[in-house]
Parts: sequence; structure tokens; C-alpha cells
Amino acid sequence: MSSGDTPISTRLSDMAAVREAFPILQQQMHGQPLIFLDSAASSQRPHHVIHALADYMSRYHANVHRGVYWLSEEATYAYEQAREKVAHFIGARRPEEIIFTRNTTEAINLVAYAWGDAHVQAGDRILLTLMEHHSNIVAWQLLAERRGAVLDYVTLDADGRLDLDSLDQLLTERTRIVAFTHQSNVLGTINPVATIAARAHAVGALVVVDGAQSVPHMPVNVAELGADFLAFSGHKMCGPTGVGVLWGRYDILSTMHPFLGGGSMISYVDEQRSTYADVPQRFEAGTPAIGEAIALGAAVDFLNGIGMDAIYHHEQELVQHALQQLATVPNLTLYGPRAAEQRGAALAFTLGNIHPHDIAAVLDQQGIAVRAGHHCTQPLHRLLDVPATVRASMYLYNTADELDRLVAGLAHVQRVLG
Ligand code: ALA
Repeated sequence: MSSGDTPISTRLSDMAAVREAFPILQQQMHGQPLIFLDSAASSQRPHHVIHALADYMSRYHANVHRGVYWLSEEATYAYEQAREKVAHFIGARRPEEIIFTRNTTEAINLVAYAWGDAHVQAGDRILLTLMEHHSNIVAWQLLAERRGAVLDYVTLDADGRLDLDSLDQLLTERTRIVAFTHQSNVLGTINPVATIAARAHAVGALVVVDGAQSVPHMPVNVAELGADFLAFSGHKMCGPTGVGVLWGRYDILSTMHPFLGGGSMISYVDEQRSTYADVPQRFEAGTPAIGEAIALGAAVDFLNGIGMDAIYHHEQELVQHALQQLATVPNLTLYGPRAAEQRGAALAFTLGNIHPHDIAAVLDQQGIAVRAGHHCTQPLHRLLDVPATVRASMYLYNTADELDRLVAGLAHVQRVLG
């Protein structure tokens, strides 16, 4: 069977063992040990996940749900087992509630087309927030254009938290969809999903949550979130690129029209019309990312072996350390909540007038990988009144020592460019 079955249990207190599990972290970058602080863009993968993908490719690759021969049955079994692992990981009531997509973006677009086109009418409103990633804005803009709907945006307070009074003012009987991120990819702000979902449901709106930055970093249970849909990506949670997840409430998914048409998603195809397969196959047209989904299942095993509580607490310690240390850097402006418990491990900042791209380039020369730019959040950056920021984002394999090296790296940036 695939290596997804291998039990793994690595304690974060044994950081050397955790880091050894990630081959990419063993290398030097520009003659320095690599410090990877861009996991919000894409995390690294442990041997366990790499092996699961290679094992599928080298030992039992075949298409799924089609063949009546051993290889295809084995691939189908592993693919469906990955679905069950993901369902269990987020507390879904049944594996059919898990749709494998390409990524978070595709998952959100799936809802926008398959639910939105059927339920949103001219003059209806779609409520977003000013901290959304473009993937949770543009998909809804396209829906609004198709249906003649209007977009509203919840504003933020000075600390980068959602202004829930503005949410209450904007929620109306015409609001059909409330879509927002669980955790900001720039500010790190963790949003009160259950509170927002309850208010949205009170006016009859559908609740769509972007979990790309939360599911990899904290225990997430869909029963507790109270949302209708949750979208997230494999590659930000130690899995491969090319596979993402849409969780949806079964009673909603099962009434929805398909998003993409093609093989695998049908029940019967006539020359003029077709009938469609049940959920989840109805939403998985064509050959899926089989090995990637299986490797995502292995990533779930890996994360479970460490424990999502342990990961959350490790990152909270890192955030506290980073907040303290970054506060000592002259001319540094940090965005987002000051209280560690209100935020996750993404820290965006500017440093005087030095361009974020220049900061990232000088840090790179010291082996430190951070992201610079607008991080796919142009409306948020307009609100912050900066064209770009530097973002250091952490994961289970980062250490306080690495953050100290980031701070030393920023001192070097100021000597070189300040
Ligand atoms: N959503 C990813 C990021 O924030 C790409 O960097």
C-alpha cells in the first residue's frame, strides 16, 4: 500500500527531527543555511509526502474509477482513502463532502459558478472583506458581472481586524453570499468564523470560507465553523501543488448543478442532455490529480502525527517571539493585530522607505526567503496605503533562531540600503 499508511509521529520539541523530515531545508542558499519564511505562499514537503507521490507514480499509477484491473483499483482505493483522510482531518460528516479541486481558487470558483449562477439574481449582494486574497474577490466579481449583483466589503479596524459593526450594517436581506478568509495571508488576522457565519445565516446568506491559511496551521473543524463551504489548498499544508479541497455541506452540494462537464461526472449522456453523477463525482470532471490527492492524504497523516494543536501552539510561540523581535527593528511598520492570539504566523511589514522587493533581494543573499509585493491583496494594500509589503510567514519547521536571523538580516538591509 502507499506510504500514506506509514505511522509518523514527530514531536515539535525535537525540532532537529522535524527539520530532517524536510529534505529542502537541509540545503544552503547563497552559502548560508536556508531559512524558509514563505510558507503562506507554499509550504515545503516532508519525505513522507514526496515518497507517497513517487510510490504512486512508480508502483500503482493508473486512472481512477475506470479500470477493473488491479492497478486502477489500487489507485482508486488510495484516492478515495485520501478523501476520507481529508474529511476526518476537518471533521466533515461524510467523505462525499470533500471535492478535490486544483487549489483554493478553483474551489471558490466552483461555488461561484455552481451555486452562485443558480441562486444570485440581479440586485442581490455579495459581501466580502477588505482583507481578501484576489481569489476570494475576483471569482465573486465575475459572478456579480454574470448576474448583475453588487459587491460589498466589510472594513477593518486600525489593528487589521474585521469591523463587525460594518458587517452588521452591510448584511441585508439581499445578501446572498458572505465570503471571507479564516486567516488573512498578509495581516495574519484570525477571523471569528462562527460569529460571522451565524450573522450571515440569520439573513439567509450562504457562507463561504477561504481556509487556505488556516487549515494548515490550526485545528479546523467544519462543524464548529458553522460555514457552508470551506476551501483550502494541498500545497500550503505540506502536500503537493495541483490539488485543493472544497468542503461543502452535503445537503447543499447534492442540490448543485455541475461546474465543469466531462468524463467521470455523468450518470448518463444523451446526444442532447446528460444526467449527472452523485456528489462528489459530479464536481470532479476529467482525470483528477490522483497522485497529488494521495500525497495530500499523506500530508494529512504527517500533520496528524505531529498534531494540529501542537502546530498551532508552536506557531503561536514563534509569532510572540517575532512580534517582540520585530518591535526592536528601527523604522519597521508591522501590519495586523498586535496580540499574538489574534493572529497566525504571517507577518507583513515595511521598513522605512526601502522597497519591499529590495529588502527581499538582500535577505535572499543571506539565505532568507520571504515574499515581497501585494501578496494578491491589492484592495488591502490600498487600505494600508502601501503598494507592497514584505511578508515573513512561518510553519511547523521554523524556529526562533531563524527569526533572530531575520532580524539580523533586516539590520543588514538597513546598513546596505537604508
Ligand atoms: N496565496 C498565496 C500567498 O499569500 C500565494 O502568498
